[in-house]
Amino acid sequence: MKKLIIALFAAGTLATLAMSEDAGPQSPVVAGGGGFKIQRPEMYHHGWLDLNKNGLKDAYEDPALPVGARVEDLLKRMTREERLGQLWQQQMRPGIDEKDGALVAAGGLGSFLGAAPDAGLRNRLQRLAVEESRLGIPLIFGFDTIHGFRTIFPIPLGLSCAWDEQLIERVETVAAAESAAAGVDWVFAPMVDIARDPRWGRIAEGAGEDPWLGGRMAAAAVRGFQGASYAQEDRVAACLKHYVGYGAAEGGRDYNTTEIGLPTLRNVYLPPFKAGVDAGAATLMSAFNCLNGVPASGNRFTLTEVLRDQWGFKGFVVSDWAAVNELIHHGYAADKAQAATLALNAGVDMEMVSDCYRTSLPPLLEAGKVSAATFDEAVRHILRIKIVKGLLDRPYTTPGKLGAAAAVALAREAVARCCVLLKNDRDILPLHVGGGTVALIGPMADNRHDLLGCWSGLGRDEDVVTLKEGLAAALPGAKLQVVVGCDLTTDDASGLDEAVAAARQADVVILALGEPASFSGENSFRSDLGLPGSQQQLFDRIAACGRPVVTVLFAGRPLAVPAVLEKSAAVLMAWHPGVQGGPGIADVLTGVVSPSGRITASFPRSVGQVPVYYNHLATGRPRNNYKEGSREPLLPFGYGLTYTRFEYGPTCLSSDRVLNGAITATATVTNAGPRAGTEVVQLYLRDPACSVGARPVRELKGFQRVTLKPGETKDVSFTLAAQDLGCWSVDGKWVVEAGRFELVIAPDAASGQMVGFSLDP
Ligand code: BGC
Repeated sequence: MKKLIIALFAAGTLATLAMSEDAGPQSPVVAGGGGFKIQRPEMYHHGWLDLNKNGLKDAYEDPALPVGARVEDLLKRMTREERLGQLWQQQMRPGIDEKDGALVAAGGLGSFLGAAPDAGLRNRLQRLAVEESRLGIPLIFGFDTIHGFRTIFPIPLGLSCAWDEQLIERVETVAAAESAAAGVDWVFAPMVDIARDPRWGRIAEGAGEDPWLGGRMAAAAVRGFQGASYAQEDRVAACLKHYVGYGAAEGGRDYNTTEIGLPTLRNVYLPPFKAGVDAGAATLMSAFNCLNGVPASGNRFTLTEVLRDQWGFKGFVVSDWAAVNELIHHGYAADKAQAATLALNAGVDMEMVSDCYRTSLPPLLEAGKVSAATFDEAVRHILRIKIVKGLLDRPYTTPGKLGAAAAVALAREAVARCCVLLKNDRDILPLHVGGGTVALIGPMADNRHDLLGCWSGLGRDEDVVTLKEGLAAALPGAKLQVVVGCDLTTDDASGLDEAVAAARQADVVILALGEPASFSGENSFRSDLGLPGSQQQLFDRIAACGRPVVTVLFAGRPLAVPAVLEKSAAVLMAWHPGVQGGPGIADVLTGVVSPSGRITASFPRSVGQVPVYYNHLATGRPRNNYKEGSREPLLPFGYGLTYTRFEYGPTCLSSDRVLNGAITATATVTNAGPRAGTEVVQLYLRDPACSVGARPVRELKGFQRVTLKPGETKDVSFTLAAQDLGCWSVDGKWVVEAGRFELVIAPDAASGQMVGFSLDP
């Protein structure tokens, strides 16, 4: 039996002990006294400490060693119970009860996810793991930092409308620093699910309907959260979620079944995850949904064959909340033991909240029904990320500042950049009200809470600056009259008369309408995409007053509000904008910032059109319409106006064929309006005949933000390599097929004339 020399550091004395490897920490055998020096005793208080050859610490504790060597050294010292502990994540509750404490101190838990993290609680729990457990393996603390931690930014769908990767990086850098300052090591973000159905409330959490743009945004968010290395104290490990297909929930009903053919899975739903993995995301979360008959959290094809074997992912996979146990609810596993077996074998490393692994893996391992190698591999994946994060070397958090002025300023900038101007008749915006009367009407006019949107982290209502406050500061000379008019969701119409009276006396009416925060995010799906409660009635009554109406819409999804678009003079989509909603929107309404947002999900005409998205496949009879009207969405992907007007010349190609492996498309873009402005110039590709599988009528392949002065003209060029013309085959190969292609440079997905070229074999 191998003897280990260990040191016990307790009550100011050191004793050298010998113990049997099998005996465990409860039964040490004292071998003699010792007087050696520990350089940083605060890091080595965890009871049992093996000495390496320089007499200071074990190999796994040596930051100078390669990560792989540290993982292997640690793993070989761990008992089965300790290994099992690493695979389990529990919810963090304020106040550590004895059970939690004992579990952590016994090495029986690897991670907490935080309800309301604070650095003090985190450090107390961490101390138990690091100083009380036998090997001192630190916990990793995860949290849902979805669009900010304390400083709440616009919802991710809104952020994506800025079409600006740098903005995303800057926002997530702040979100990471605030999270880390409260003891969060790991954020459950970005959500990179493609969403083509605005009934699904979680469309708010992602970057919309396009896989290429989704991939760019995913990579930018990963860079923002993780920086050059997520070992830095102000950075966090990222988690791409929800792997995979969650956004295709049938009927938009959250958690629902998804049926996604392999070509669509490969070309639409997987690419943003692949982009996030390529950007170095530390972790992934396996989704709730059943995908083609196999739940995503028990799906070996996606979790192992695609993720590990084809993409080479080296991080770990955490299940979504109790998703391992839900394999039983899906009718895929009979009991916890089968759920644990299926999930572990599929590739889920850490189980969130439910306890299938904890209760079932020991007997399954004992009976040889789960392989020890598979089990150890899951432990390895988790240890590796903990070590790369630096948790072994710096387990504790130094509390830092939240809500700093620079963060709040960035939030204001982000709001203005995310707003999408959907209509602006006769240039009613920007507002020129001078000393006139502005009636600000609607349930979002002075609303704090709902501006935060879903998943608002530690955001507080009192941090929110409302639209009323933002406008009052931006229009000091104007007479601002504020009337709520009606409730956000109920049918109470008692305030409508007062609202109408205010509108009649105003020079301009700003209607602030929309959805409450609770209408989007998890488990918040709708069967109607109109304005809730009596808001449409409020709108109709105000619109009938004959005053010019500027409608500001707040929502977590594209709404189907054709009458609002038709009857308002101007419409600004402000999403759920976060703490700086009021000032950021006021910046746009008053022209301090010209709007440059473009929608990243199509706006349907009615809920009955859904799903309706730009990158659909062609049909044999493409012009057939609904009995009630057009098959096309009301507003296409990529659409958005600004305070000037841009004109596009035809798309010109460098050649009629790909030469030297590349082709360049150029269009002349002119600012034909009276003000400076920024245009998001978009490049779309079409492959009209593809034997790998039919391709969409259009696919986004590039964009550029171009700022032009009035009258200024610029040739905007995009170069695509032959490689960019390909698509994914069902077996995961990127295939570029020779033949005809088409390109167009356009302001949105529904404009412009395609021009053809060929790729020679
Ligand atoms: C959600 C995830 C979230 C997790 C942890 C789940 O219910 O689906 O998006 O990260 O809870 O809070």
